[in-house]
Amino acid sequence: MAAGTDTLLWNQNLIDRYDLAGPRYTSYPTALEFTEDFDLDALESAAQESRQSGRPLSLYLHIPFCAHLCYYCACNKIVTKKRDKAGPYLERLHREIRKKSELFGGTERPATQLHWGGGTPTFISQDEMRTLMAAVRESFRLADDDSGDHSIEIDPRECGPDTLQVLREIGFNRISLGVQDFNPKVQKAVNRVQPAEMVNNRLREARELGFGSINLDLIYGLPFQTPATFAETLDQVIELLPDRLSVFNYAHMPDRFMPQQRIREEDLPTPADKLQILEDAINRLLAAGYVYIGMDHFARPDDPLAIAQREGTLHRNFQGYTTHRDCDLIGMGVSAIGQTEHAYFQNHHDQQAWEFELDFNRHPLKKGRTLTRDDRIRRWVIMALICHFTLEKAQFRDIWGEEFDDYFRDLNQPLAAMAADGLISTDDSRLEVKTPGRLLIRAICKLFDRYQQQASKFSRII
Ligand SMILES: C[S@@+](CC[C@H](N)C(=O)[O-])C[C@H]1O[C@@H](n2cnc3c(N)ncnc32)[C@H](O)[C@@H]1O
Ligand code: SF4
Repeated sequence: MAAGTDTLLWNQNLIDRYDLAGPRYTSYPTALEFTEDFDLDALESAAQESRQSGRPLSLYLHIPFCAHLCYYCACNKIVTKKRDKAGPYLERLHREIRKKSELFGGTERPATQLHWGGGTPTFISQDEMRTLMAAVRESFRLADDDSGDHSIEIDPRECGPDTLQVLREIGFNRISLGVQDFNPKVQKAVNRVQPAEMVNNRLREARELGFGSINLDLIYGLPFQTPATFAETLDQVIELLPDRLSVFNYAHMPDRFMPQQRIREEDLPTPADKLQILEDAINRLLAAGYVYIGMDHFARPDDPLAIAQREGTLHRNFQGYTTHRDCDLIGMGVSAIGQTEHAYFQNHHDQQAWEFELDFNRHPLKKGRTLTRDDRIRRWVIMALICHFTLEKAQFRDIWGEEFDDYFRDLNQPLAAMAADGLISTDDSRLEVKTPGRLLIRAICKLFDRYQQQASKFSRII
């Protein structure tokens, strides 16, 4: 079945046997494989190759501050009430913008995509937003009209009466609103109380101002959620008619994310309830006319994301699914990641370390990875499957000069087993993910992930 159809088959037996979890493949190799061997020389080579390619740029700016702490949060953030903390951070960010532009030739080629993420980008003042956008425009060639894709993450509680208007004035045309859940008991348990009215108002204002592709973030698996309460949240969400929806899975890892220790394990839905919530959510959204884009994401059929999927031009990078296939990504700000055809590179996670490097006028690089040809081949395969649920073997041959069946001959057996289970079909011309396999796409991609395979072999030996 082609991508974007209106059914997703729920097969409990397959879900029990294959894993719904696994890497989200916003990159391949995943960030777990980045190492500190990737140094400034490696960054310079990546930048040089990128410049020579002339590929357009996609820019990501990380603004880590939040005024409130949501207990479930796994994002890279700094929670503070002190608004003046942003000033010194932004000073360094301006410096990084100039440095990255010099390195990557930011004024030589268009930047067709811009995203401000966090944390909460609207934590900063309106003056700071204007100055930051002016700095980006000075160093990179952003479109002056709406032909670029300029998006920002918004916490509805951190969005004053004229914030959206200012964002529109400085060139944003897309927003993503964090909702998570509308149920008051759930909201209280995760320390994120925001009435539906507030989200509704922000959405209405955004539409009046001409923002498009409006996204809402939801999370399933939060404390006190039940299939019934989440169904109510979804009904409210569907009434708001967002263009896109992200429905993320809450993974409770309190050892890794300290704030999650405030969530009591006994308040979490059972695994069976959680699966039921997911199944119901998918069915409800499909029935409401949304298209399943893949891995947590839904869109209305007329949204550019759904159109790109139908037309075979969808792509995936650290910002999730995107229509900007041929861009190199430059990440700026603490923990931000960049990507070129041959490399990934990530800034320091730690704010002080990031600032220290910039204070000495150095790139705040922490780690990265130069891709081998095998990495690039496997990335191509994984991206084809994740974005389009199908892979044309002739196209693989044209791009890589290899026969798909020869290159992946080691996978004959597991692929045949998946085909026998009805997850995929494979013949001489293509590998296709069938309807029951679409929910299990991570398990299918994991087969092609050399590092995951090595890790599982290793742990089996142990
Ligand atoms: C940076 S936040 C969005 C912007 C803004 N800070 C807000 O919360 O509205 C990105 C999104 O990540 C998701 N998220 C954060 N922590 C998560 C977790 N532990 N599990 C699943 N999703 C999570 C939430 O849906 C959140 O809206
Ligand atoms: S979910 Fe958003 S607002 Fe809440 S702590 Fe995380 S980044 Fe901050």
